[in-house]
Amino acid sequence: MNTTTKNILITGGAGFIGSHVVRRFVKNYPQYRIVNLDKLTYAGNLANLQDIEEADNYSFIRGDITDATFIDELFNTQQFDSVIHLAAESHVDRSISSPLEFVLTNVVGTVNLLNAARRYWSDKLDQCRFYHISTDEVYGTLGETGMFTETTAYDPHSPYSASKASSDHFVRAYHDTYGLPIVISNCSNNYGPNQFPEKLIPLAIHNIRNNRPVPVYGTGENVRDWLYVIDHAIAIDTVFHRAENGKTYNIGGHNEWKNIDLIRLLCKIMDKKLERASGTSEKLITFVKDRAGHDLRYAIDASRIKAELDWAPSLQFEEGLERTVSWYLENETWLNNVTSGDYLNYYEQQYLHR
Ligand code: NAD
Ligand code: DAU
Repeated sequence: MNTTTKNILITGGAGFIGSHVVRRFVKNYPQYRIVNLDKLTYAGNLANLQDIEEADNYSFIRGDITDATFIDELFNTQQFDSVIHLAAESHVDRSISSPLEFVLTNVVGTVNLLNAARRYWSDKLDQCRFYHISTDEVYGTLGETGMFTETTAYDPHSPYSASKASSDHFVRAYHDTYGLPIVISNCSNNYGPNQFPEKLIPLAIHNIRNNRPVPVYGTGENVRDWLYVIDHAIAIDTVFHRAENGKTYNIGGHNEWKNIDLIRLLCKIMDKKLERASGTSEKLITFVKDRAGHDLRYAIDASRIKAELDWAPSLQFEEGLERTVSWYLENETWLNNVTSGDYLNYYEQQYLHR
């Protein structure tokens, strides 16, 4: 690909992963123009990007990818040559209580972007790229052994993963049917600064800090493969610049943890950071009713991206978790702002009425 100038639409850039991707592109590629399109749902937060909001090569547009007319006009006026698509409803528990929103944003929103790209890129397909960011959850669940590869059959179980699987299929269909230049990556669980505290790690940090119960679903035996969010942003940068059209890459941390073991490690780190007696935070662990359709285990085989694009995770989990805890403790205002208002209603519905 030509890397001298680019006009890139990043969707979902005020969310967790998107904000790290936007920051990386704005800082590392001053010759690119970066437009961040985000609806700013409960999960989107412009405070995530305060440090780069004045950059010359950056602009923010508030808008909804489910609005086809708006998306069409945006492509018409902004003349993008690349899309990095992260905007999504991303939380499995919310998808269980409100599946339709996941269909609208994750499926219809993605198809709107594909349609606009197809329309505006028809005479310059070789200079364009549509990069769809997806998840390992599309592959379903593993037993005690094995790993997801890029050829593992799709087998989603939650409304969230079903909507992401559907969007992946549409992206590939637009490549095969219309020749749209696409790439897809499917990543494992991310953690790090700026993650909304509905997800396991920031929720546990927030509750431990406030001496509140730490909810562990079921028996805590479910396994996730954790990757530091900045390593994911580096992988996205690598795939965006170096992958061949039509390709898929799995991205993961080679870092599997049972939820209960992860929470115990987090409790130890928090005891130290908060200068509490050893074992204090572990007493907060509370086993609660399991998530419906809860996938037992995810594990990514990331050998293709290592072999072909020379990407591998850079950070050890213990170090990444320490950094993450420090970030949340040092950014109390960020955490307090996002855990007021709607969050309290969500928390009550999700945890106090289980
Ligand atoms: P997030 O929920 O933190 O952020 C999503 C962003 O999308 C928010 O800023 C939100 O305002 C925006 N958005 C939602 N609906 C929109 C709409 N209709 N129009 C425009 N913007 C809208 O999510 P995240 O965890 O940063 O995930 C980003 C992407 O990465 C998602 O596509 C997700 O499926 C994928 N992913 C996430 C993980 C993970 O562990 N978090 C792992 C693999 C893949
Ligand atoms: O695997 C990638 C996926 O990881 C992404 O596609 C999703 O967007 C992202 O939300 C994440 O999904 P999970 O469902 O794995 O993440 P979550 O943080 O919600 O839960 C992690 C594990 O912890 C899971 O097994 C459920 C469990 N859990 C979660 C919460 C919120 C608990 O035990 N207690 C909790 O309170």
